[in-house]
Amino acid sequence: MGRRLLIRDLAQVATPSGREAPLRGRALREVELLEDAFVLCDGDIIEAVGRMRELRPLEGDVEELDGRGRCAVPGLVDCHTHAAFGGDRVDEFALRAGGAGYEELHAAGGGILSTVRATRAAGEEGLRTAVERHRGWMLRHGTTTFEAKSGYGLDRDTELASLRAVRDAGGIATWLGAHAVPPEFDGDADAYLDFALAEVLPEAATLAEAADVFLERGAFDGAQARRYLEACRDAGLALRLHGDQFTEQGAIPLAVELRARSVDHLEATGDDGIRALATSDVVGVCLPASALFLDRPMPPARALVDAGAAVALATDFNPGSAFCESLPLVCSLAATQLHLAPAEALAACTVNAAHVLGRAGRLGRLAPGYRADVVLLDAPDWRYLAYHLGGEVVSTVVRDGELVIGR
Ligand code: NIG
Ligand code: FE
Repeated sequence: MGRRLLIRDLAQVATPSGREAPLRGRALREVELLEDAFVLCDGDIIEAVGRMRELRPLEGDVEELDGRGRCAVPGLVDCHTHAAFGGDRVDEFALRAGGAGYEELHAAGGGILSTVRATRAAGEEGLRTAVERHRGWMLRHGTTTFEAKSGYGLDRDTELASLRAVRDAGGIATWLGAHAVPPEFDGDADAYLDFALAEVLPEAATLAEAADVFLERGAFDGAQARRYLEACRDAGLALRLHGDQFTEQGAIPLAVELRARSVDHLEATGDDGIRALATSDVVGVCLPASALFLDRPMPPARALVDAGAAVALATDFNPGSAFCESLPLVCSLAATQLHLAPAEALAACTVNAAHVLGRAGRLGRLAPGYRADVVLLDAPDWRYLAYHLGGEVVSTVVRDGELVIGR
């Protein structure tokens, strides 16, 4: 028997119920709630979850954590971030506050391309430092598993360095090789893809688990997205798309046809898209912090859930469109702006997000056999996760059965 940790006397333990993934429809609301409860971890695995009165005396050495007045939820899973970047976009943020448009700034060589310049200049060490710093920010907000994309290098060395930095920081790497057309290709997206698929994909496929593309006016069109994704699929990568952020360009039908894991953003998705997603296995990843940060319409999450779609929530943490690493804040936005119940929000950033990352059998629930990733909320009711808007709701984080934040 390994090192054991008993988190005891918790006001509540709240977890998405069952073993299925992804959750949809009514199942998305089914949170299992235990009051006056414990979570027992054996090494990096959850051994038992139950009520205090059912707790039997434990043999051997057991470390204890006092959960009084606090609630446990599963370690949060951020399935969509762009944590591998250099520099910042605070100047652009101030310009946007004064009325400048996000797409305009991009078209003028700013936006994503300004972060490409800063990321190339950061070098491999600078990128490692940045990703580790961002991972620390996420962890303090309860994120025990994060995905992060490349996409600010767009040359061979910086793309691969980004993926290595994510992987070495314990993240799950996604190759966003088709994020923007870098300046040296002078707007020729097809020539850039020729390069990226021939020169970067072979090694990217050994570092990343998935590939992602920005299918949007001013970025890549449907034919280019298809070419990129098919090549990535043939190299063994799972597929994701940034789709319907500003305009519908066919991201959902393409995702369904190619059996992508997810389509992310969806702020511009209309009724046909909602129906198509709802009858598919593709997860709709909603990023309300990004819509808020850009003052854009919110994605139709309520309609998606009601139509039967599998929905996840993520931060989209990046320097331009969502400088926000907090999933609890995203849960608050989900409740207030997307009209999801706190239970739906919890499932969306735990088990459903784990499904997007291909890990729903091990992550996203507090149940025996799952990884011992536990977040303690400084609250008498777990729904403070969404209720405490911008508050310090996360008091303690246990990852792999070890206390990493708080006490
Ligand atoms: O998900 N839309 C494309 N990519 C990112 C933003 C990138 C940036 O502005 O730096 C997103 O919003
Ligand atoms: Fe994104």
